[in-house]
Amino acid sequence: MVSPISHLPLIIVLLLSFSLANSASLQESFVQCLNLNSDRTFPFYSSIYTPSNPSFTSILDSSAQNLRLLVPSAPKPEFIFTPSRDSHVQAAVICSKKLGIHIRVRSGGHDYEGISYVSEIETPFIVVDLVKLRGINVDVKSNTAWVQAGATTGEVYYRIYEKSSVHGFPAGLCTSLGIGGHITGGAYGTMMRKYGLGVDNVLDAQIVDANGRVLDREAMGEDLFWAIRGGGGGSFGILLWWKIKLVPVPPTVTVFTVTKSLEQGATKILHRWQEVAPYIDENLFIRVIIQPSSDGRNKTQRTITTSYNALFLGGARTLLQVMKTSFPELGLTRKDCLETSWIKSVLYIAGFPSDTPPEVLLKGKSTFKNFFKAKSDFVREPIPETGLEGLWQRLLVEDSPLMIWNPYGGRMSQFSESETPFPHRNGTLYKIQYLSLWQEGDKNAAKHIDWIRKLYNYMGPYVSSLPREAYVNYRDLDLGINTKNSTSYIQASAWGYRYYKNNFDRLVKIKTKVDPQNVFRHEQSIPPLPL
Ligand SMILES: Cc1cc2nc3c(=O)[nH]c(=O)nc-3n(C[C@H](O)[C@H](O)[C@H](O)COP(=O)(O)OP(=O)(O)OC[C@H]3O[C@@H](n4cnc5c(N)ncnc54)[C@H](O)[C@@H]3O)c2cc1C
Ligand SMILES: *[C@@H]1O[C@H](CO)[C@@H](O)[C@H](O)[C@H]1NC(C)=O
Ligand SMILES: *[C@@H]1O[C@H](CO)[C@@H](O)[C@H](O)[C@H]1NC(C)=O
Ligand SMILES: *[C@@H]1O[C@H](CO)[C@@H](O)[C@H](O)[C@H]1NC(C)=O
Repeated sequence: MVSPISHLPLIIVLLLSFSLANSASLQESFVQCLNLNSDRTFPFYSSIYTPSNPSFTSILDSSAQNLRLLVPSAPKPEFIFTPSRDSHVQAAVICSKKLGIHIRVRSGGHDYEGISYVSEIETPFIVVDLVKLRGINVDVKSNTAWVQAGATTGEVYYRIYEKSSVHGFPAGLCTSLGIGGHITGGAYGTMMRKYGLGVDNVLDAQIVDANGRVLDREAMGEDLFWAIRGGGGGSFGILLWWKIKLVPVPPTVTVFTVTKSLEQGATKILHRWQEVAPYIDENLFIRVIIQPSSDGRNKTQRTITTSYNALFLGGARTLLQVMKTSFPELGLTRKDCLETSWIKSVLYIAGFPSDTPPEVLLKGKSTFKNFFKAKSDFVREPIPETGLEGLWQRLLVEDSPLMIWNPYGGRMSQFSESETPFPHRNGTLYKIQYLSLWQEGDKNAAKHIDWIRKLYNYMGPYVSSLPREAYVNYRDLDLGINTKNSTSYIQASAWGYRYYKNNFDRLVKIKTKVDPQNVFRHEQSIPPLPL
């Protein structure tokens, strides 16, 4: 599908000159350009928010998850544009390119370093927020759905559930993620061991490219279609729609959460989990949430709790058999198990209270929003108990640390490393996510960031190396940052091989071909090679 806009005579574009003297005129020039490049009758002014607009702050903050990037000292956009049609996104690309305005794209706002709404490397910049573009068309007959970038994972799950109780989609556990940004980096969830990632279940897409054209899979070609399925957001174009493949889910699934403290033998059980969880029945996903908590008996004495939080695609009886055979150490009993529907398991895993109706998923409600810094690692060999004990010592001295361990294996091992840009496949036992959270007004933000960096150093010997792999959807600017002159391949290789392994080189080649002028750029966007 190619839009008529791409046929607009270039001469009109070139004849216009704009004053960039101040932000008012920048905004005016942008609106003028939008009007020229799309349906003139549309009142663009009402979808543009400058800092003087009373709604500016609430729109900017709305979907942003990391409050660390919303503090007053964080760079703010000149304005936010909220397109309400696909053609407006095309016009935004054409106009930002023509006016030389740096553009950031936001779908669900969950970027860990806030790069969808903050630019540390370039001013002025604008935010194109796709919040109004959230169409979802589910077609159960063909097992597919077309989903627009601004829709959340929760909305997608709900719209599937509305049409069928035996279909689902294997993407994020968190229900407020924007489908646009989320799938670009991989997208894992509780069904990854059975069905792989979100990117493994994408059939087609529509993107706006660097020239403002809308391209589907056929028009963009297999190279670019490969790149957008895991090559990270904000590098290759603006995703408008994903066509996803629905997967079967049983009418009854089982969830449980079993918690073990150090006093209850947590270290030994977790050591065993590393050997079991990646190889167990692929219908079973057992993640572990690890944090310090106060010991019930002595409030000044903290312990470590490990919570085994799981989804089984089947009934409790079968689950208990699987656990008895493969992981008796956890001591799972029938009364730990809750049999429920797939959609309710989504609410359970996302942490909603037990009687929350599924309709909450339509509110795009986030259960997170924190000041935080996070990092990730992939583990290929079990960490010895002594390594775990050193980890507990480090967690015990931090205010609000959190770790989440996600098992791999199953379907994840059946893809080659280069099948999609997401390379963390066969041989990966599990992924670790480290977080430190804090409250507003905490003067110790720097101390918490320092703590997590030291923890990361401590973990070095126990995790993947050469490269030390990281998950691009858990973006971490400590791994390296493109400066304004971001065409440096050397600079970008600092993080590129960690996120993509050798796929990084292919991503750079594709980027050089489809966006040689680097229209889509940010702190960790794929660099084009110099022409
Ligand atoms: C609380 C929380 C829970 C999470 N849980 C999971 C999980 O279970 N599984 C998982 O895999 N990940 C998870 N993540 C990580 C999440 O997948 C990434 O943060 C993802 O990038 C979010 O997408 P978004 O659209 O919400 O974010 P945004 O901040 O809007 O965008 C993220 C990146 O993609 C770019 N981008 C956004 N929209 C588009 C678009 N339409 N086209 C091209 N580029 C775009 C942005 O510029 C930015 O670079 C979680 C994150 C948080 C904060
Ligand atoms: C509680 O734990 C602290 C720290 O380990 C210890 O000093 C204190 O004696 C304990 N108090 C009780 C009542 O056990
Ligand atoms: C995964 O790796 C293991 C160990 O190297 C190997 O035995 C197995 O065949 C691989 N599986 C696939 C599907 O490639
Ligand atoms: C960035 O590139 C420009 C043009 O190539 C050059 O003049 C400038 O010195 C570079 N800046 C930095 C910081 O490298």
